This record gives sequence, structure tokens and C-alpha cells, in this order.
Amino acid sequence: MVQFLSKPTTTFTPKPTPFATFVFIIILCILGFYTLHYPHSSVPTSNSRNASRFQHIFLLSASNYTISSYLRILTQHPHLAGTKPASDTTNYVLNHFKDLGLETRVVNYKTLLSYPVYASLSAHFSDGSFVDFPLTELSGSEQVGQDVVPPYHAYSPSGSAHAKVVFVNYGREEDYRTLGMFGVNVSGCIVIARKGDVLSRGAVVQGAAANGALAVLLYTEGDKFRKGFERGTVMRGIGDPLSPGWAGVEEGESLELEDSEVLKRFPKIPSMPLSIETAETILDLLGGARVPQEWTDTLRSRVMGVGPSPAALNFTYQGEKKVATIQNVLAIIKGMEEPDRYVLMGNHRDAWTYGAVDPNSGTAALLDIARRYALLLRFGWNPRRTIILCSWDAEEFGMIGSTEWVEQNLVNLGSKVVAYLNVDCAVQGSGFFAGATPQLDNILFEVTKKVKDPDSEGATLYEKWAATAGNSNIQRLSGVNSDFAPFVHHAGIPSVDMYYGRDFPVYHTAFDSYKWMIEHGDPLFQRHVAVAGVWGLLALHLADDPIIPFNYHSYVDQLQGYASILSNLFNGTISMHPLTMSIQELASAAKEADDELKKLRFDEAAGDFVELKRRALNDRLMLVEKGFLDADGLPGRQWFKHLVYGPSADYESKLVFFPGIADSIYQSTRMNQREGRAAIQHEIWRVARAIQRAAYALRGELT
Ligand SMILES: *[C@@H]1O[C@H](CO)[C@@H](O)[C@H](O)[C@H]1NC(C)=O
Ligand SMILES: *[C@@H]1O[C@H](CO)[C@@H](O)[C@H](O)[C@H]1NC(C)=O
Ligand SMILES: *[C@@H]1O[C@H](CO)[C@@H](O)[C@H](O)[C@H]1NC(C)=O
Ligand SMILES: *[C@@H]1O[C@H](CO)[C@@H](O)[C@H](O)[C@H]1NC(C)=O
Ligand SMILES: *[C@@H]1O[C@H](CO)[C@@H](O)[C@H](O)[C@H]1NC(C)=O
Repeated sequence: MVQFLSKPTTTFTPKPTPFATFVFIIILCILGFYTLHYPHSSVPTSNSRNASRFQHIFLLSASNYTISSYLRILTQHPHLAGTKPASDTTNYVLNHFKDLGLETRVVNYKTLLSYPVYASLSAHFSDGSFVDFPLTELSGSEQVGQDVVPPYHAYSPSGSAHAKVVFVNYGREEDYRTLGMFGVNVSGCIVIARKGDVLSRGAVVQGAAANGALAVLLYTEGDKFRKGFERGTVMRGIGDPLSPGWAGVEEGESLELEDSEVLKRFPKIPSMPLSIETAETILDLLGGARVPQEWTDTLRSRVMGVGPSPAALNFTYQGEKKVATIQNVLAIIKGMEEPDRYVLMGNHRDAWTYGAVDPNSGTAALLDIARRYALLLRFGWNPRRTIILCSWDAEEFGMIGSTEWVEQNLVNLGSKVVAYLNVDCAVQGSGFFAGATPQLDNILFEVTKKVKDPDSEGATLYEKWAATAGNSNIQRLSGVNSDFAPFVHHAGIPSVDMYYGRDFPVYHTAFDSYKWMIEHGDPLFQRHVAVAGVWGLLALHLADDPIIPFNYHSYVDQLQGYASILSNLFNGTISMHPLTMSIQELASAAKEADDELKKLRFDEAAGDFVELKRRALNDRLMLVEKGFLDADGLPGRQWFKHLVYGPSADYESKLVFFPGIADSIYQSTRMNQREGRAAIQHEIWRVARAIQRAAYALRGELT
């Protein structure tokens, strides 16, 4: 237990206060009254129920008190995946679901994790003097984070380097080229880099190794929390490295640590995060060539020169890679009419430190949704489709818990899941952000119209968020930065991701604590309530609406937008015709689906077998996203199957869609003109065929 957590900062105890309980009794009474006065008989389906009534009850049952109490308990101690405290957190979540009477399941995997053993860093000057740099957030009397794992990069190899240091900006290829122009060669040096948006940690280290560096020190710029070290993984790709492409189950196939497939996922040189404070001390030691203007324009710290430094750094890191058991916890609310159709809500539970923002603001929201769903069940709600609340493990090491589960259940997930709704760092600050595959845009807007904006009196979240900029407010899910990645990129499942605020200053540091949340992130827990509202309501619609609320016109619009960006880029040198034709096919399939949907909405217009007709349409609506998958995947990264959304290998690419095309554009620069164009044209055809498959899936008829 950490000291500042034991000082009471608010008056309530971890259990809901008498006041909160009182509020609930009142709400229960009101709802009970409601139930009596709106008997079920008013709806014609067999499982007579009024979905909008339950949505109403769901909204009424929101409580910032319960959410804050869950968060407080979840963040009492650090719970790094694979450690003893993490299993306490697992049990807390599991027991919460059980206490609510929900059916639960714990799914275990054996996966390779990584922990630090020892690290040191010192500077040695020509006169024989030296300085030791502290590699910890522990500061004298404060004793912040005593039980927190020391700063490290998961899966960094162990190693030492005694060498001069060079500043390499973000560590991009172009940064090394710039250094080359100044005659600076990092071969045999330690490099220090600032972390930017474009390169993952692993890519920074890989780039440094490719340029001959011996080790990497990486810091994240910012004004506050200068003492914070940003932990993180440097593994490439996602999922358990010992079971790439399949689930790491007990008794299952597991590669040797020395297998080349495993080794290629890890960097070749050691690395370490630095706090801004430590990084600046090192940057002050540099001399050598002046820092280029393009770098200083965005630099937040003073950098004396790019180096190499006159002083040598002595850096040592020792870590251990260890096979550990990780645990996904699931709570299942069985659907009444279509139990074999699933709506998944997921959040990871493991944290680098206390995890108040990352990820347990999302966990607290998930636990509160469970509480509220349990309440609905008591009022007679039976969802039409099955809802599963998923609490993933080991996301921080590379989305391992969710990826293993997706790999293990690929066929069932691909054919039966309506959508996956992800929330990771639910509350990082102010302002709502959402990402989605485009068929979910509309329902996301509809739901935000029903949820109160947490930061402005009397306004809905929609009014503050989407009303002005429309669907350009919704990002797309090409990034590989949370658990939606395996669902979208590997399984082709329509997905949503959402959060409040971004770029929070305590990210992956010992300061990501309950204290930070109540002082900065969400003092009144109303943003938590808002996220839980959108999240829970989205799932209610996807589970209860007789016709799944997907709109493929948004997908068509989005694809048309992408095609016109490409066509401007290619300037007529590449034929866009295949792409344009396939998008037109999807557009006409979307229109036909729309007409059918209108007929099936009301029983009277639908004719016989209306339920089966709806189910058939729903299946087609669900399958469309699978059309975008390609068995061969992205060239060189075959695990990534989705040809519309996925990570591009070329970080400089401005395209956040069609990753295969983006890669071919990059590769074409290294080919002669004819070959280059042919490579791009081939990728265009692949995407066109994928869109065509999606159109066929929506139409549902064989050619
Ligand atoms: C369904 O519930 C809503 C909201 O509670 C209510 O306004 C509506 O009258 C109900 N409809 C029926 C048919 O009971
Ligand atoms: C940097 O130095 C190494 C070793 O001396 C050498 O192999 C390499 O070619 C140099 N790189 C450049 C870009 O000059
Ligand atoms: C560098 O650090 C390591 C580990 O702390 C230590 O064993 C070694 O003696 C140091 N080397 C020098 C030259 O100080
Ligand atoms: C819940 O919200 C109310 C109203 O904004 C506020 O007065 C109260 O302090 C909040 N409770 C918690 C635990 O944040
Ligand atoms: C695109 O076309 C314009 C005018 O037709 C020309 O000026 C420009 O250089 C072309 N760009 C490329 C990348 O081919």
C-alpha cells in the first residue's frame, strides 16, 4: 500500500456510502413503480419486452459514487500482469460479477512476459569524475510508488553499453539521415530519443540498432510529472510471442525462446525509459553539431547539441523473460432469443502501476455497467442477444490476453459476434473521443444524444462532441494500441473504441493513481459516468434492436473519401477504376439492404417468417466486415488480415487506411517506375476485391 493512498482524500469508504445506497433505494422504488405500470404485454414478440424502457432504466441508474468506489479499490496496489497483486485484482473483478449473480468464466493462458531485474546509468567524465542517474520515481520522503515495478521496457534484452551518447530526435530514418548530413554516425554510441506519435517504442529501438547503436534511452516530452518514467513494451507485433497466430494454452504448442520466430519480435539492443528530468541532465552533457532547426522547432527541452557527448555513459539493463499465467475474466448475460449472437464489451485490467487512468477508469466503468445490467435483469430484462463483459489481462505487454482469446475463438467470433466495444483509458481528461468502424457511426451518434455531457450543464454529449464536425469526429481503428486491434485487424469484427481526454501526463508512470484521477482526471467522476453511459447504451442497442443498427452508407462514404485521396495522390498514373467500381457495388448493396430493412422493421409489412427474415438480414449485416479480410493478409505481416484498417509498415505514410496500398507506395520508391506502379496497382486490386466480397456478403446472394 502506498502512503498517499491511505490518507483519506474524500469522505467515502470503498463500499458505497449510506447516501449512495439511499439514492439507490429511491431509484429502485421508482423503477419498481415503473415496472408495475408498464406491463410487458405491450410488445408483440415472444419475449415481450420494451427495449427503450430498459435503456431508460439503464440511464437512470448511473452513479458516480459506485464508479469512484470501484476505481478506488482497483487502484489500491499496482497490478502488473503475471504478479501476485494482479491476481488479487482478478479476483476482485470476478467476485464483483459473481456477487451480481452473473455467469462468469476465467480463461487462462500461459504466455511469455518480461520483468526488470537491475538497471543502472551513469555518466563518466574525462577527469575521472562521474554522476549516477536515479532510474526510479522514488523520491526521498515522498516514497511514491514503493511497490511499483521499476521503470523498464518489457522484452528489452539484457545488456551493457559504455559509450558516448547522441541525440537522435524521434529516431526516425529521416532523423538518422539528418545526423548523417552533419557527419554524425551513431554506430557504437548510446542514443537518446524523444518519443513521438509516429514510431512505437519497439520501432525506435529497432531503428537505432539498424544504425549500429548499442542502446537506447527514450523519454517522453511534456511539462508536468518531470519525474515520471514511461514504461512500455518494445515487442513487435501483438499477442504471446511463444504462440504467434495461435492461443498460448496450457499443454499447447509453445515455441522455444531461441526460435527465430520468437527472437525476431524482440529488439537486439537494450533500452530504457527516462524521465524528462533525467533526460534533460543527459541532454545537457551533449556537445557536437548544433541541433537542426526542424528539430528545435518542436523540442520542449533545451538540447545543447546532437553529440556525440564528450562524456561516456555507462548503461546496464538486466531483465528476465518469464512464462506466466494470465487470466481473462468474462461475465456473460445470455440472450433470450438469439443466445448465439454476441455483443462484446472489453477493457483490460492489468496496469504498469496503479492504473487509475490506464486502464482501470475503463474497468470501473465496466463494473458499473455490470451493476446496472444486473439491475435491469432484476426488472425483467432479457437481452435478445448475448452480452459478454470482458476483462483482459496483459494488454500492456502487447494486447496478449485479448489476442490469445481471439486466436482461440476465431471461427465462432467471426461468425457470431455483432460488435466489439472497447474502452481502455476511459478517462484521461476532458473532451470525448471515439473511434469506430464506419457502420457503427450512426448508432454512436444516436447514443451520444441520450447521454448527458459531463462538463456542461444541460447539454448532451452529442451537442458538445459531434454536432459541429459530424463523422470526422470519429477516428478509424488502424492503430495497434488497444484490445480492439485483434478484433478488427485479425478477425474483422465491427468495433468501437472511446475515451475522455488524451495524452495524459502520468501515462505509464507511478503517478497514474487514484490521487491523480481525483485531482486532475475526473474529480466528480461524471466523465466516467458519461463513458459508461455511451458504452452501456451502445451494447443495449446492439443486443436488443431487432435489426442490428449498422449503417453501410457511412462505410461507403468513407471508402469514397479514401479513393479520392488516393486518386489525388496518384495523379492518373495508377488506375483507380477497380476501386471505384467495387465501392459502387457496395453502395448499391447498402441501398438494397436499406430497403429490406425498412420492410422488416414493422411486423405488418414483413410478411411471414419475419423473425427469420430479420435474422438473415442481421447475419449479412454482421458478415460485411469479414469481406475486408484477406487470407494472405498484409505483405510481410500476414497476421494482419484487414485490408481497409490496419497498421502501415511505413510510419511516414500519411494514409491511415488501406495499409497494404500504403506499404506498396513506400516500397515503390525503391523500385523502378514500372515495377513500382505494378506493385501499387496490385494492392489496389486486392482492396477492390475485398470491397467486392463485402458487397457480396451484404447482398447475400451467390454470383
Ligand atoms: C416503452 O418504454 C418507454 C420508456 O420507458 C415508454 O415511453 C413507452 O411508452 C414504452 N412503450 C410501450 C409500448 O410500453
Ligand atoms: C557508421 O560507422 C560504421 C562503423 O564505423 C560504418 O560501418 C557505417 O557505414 C557508418 N555509417 C555511415 C552512414 O556512414
Ligand atoms: C558500468 O556499470 C556496471 C553496472 O552497474 C558496473 O558493473 C561497471 O563497473 C560500470 N563500468 C564502469 C566503467 O564504471
Ligand atoms: C458525484 O457528482 C455530484 C454532482 O456532480 C458531486 O457533488 C459528488 O461529489 C460526486 N461524487 C463523487 C464521488 O465524485
Ligand atoms: C501531377 O500532375 C500535375 C499536373 O498534371 C503535375 O504538375 C505533377 O507534377 C504531378 N505529380 C505527380 C506526383 O506525378
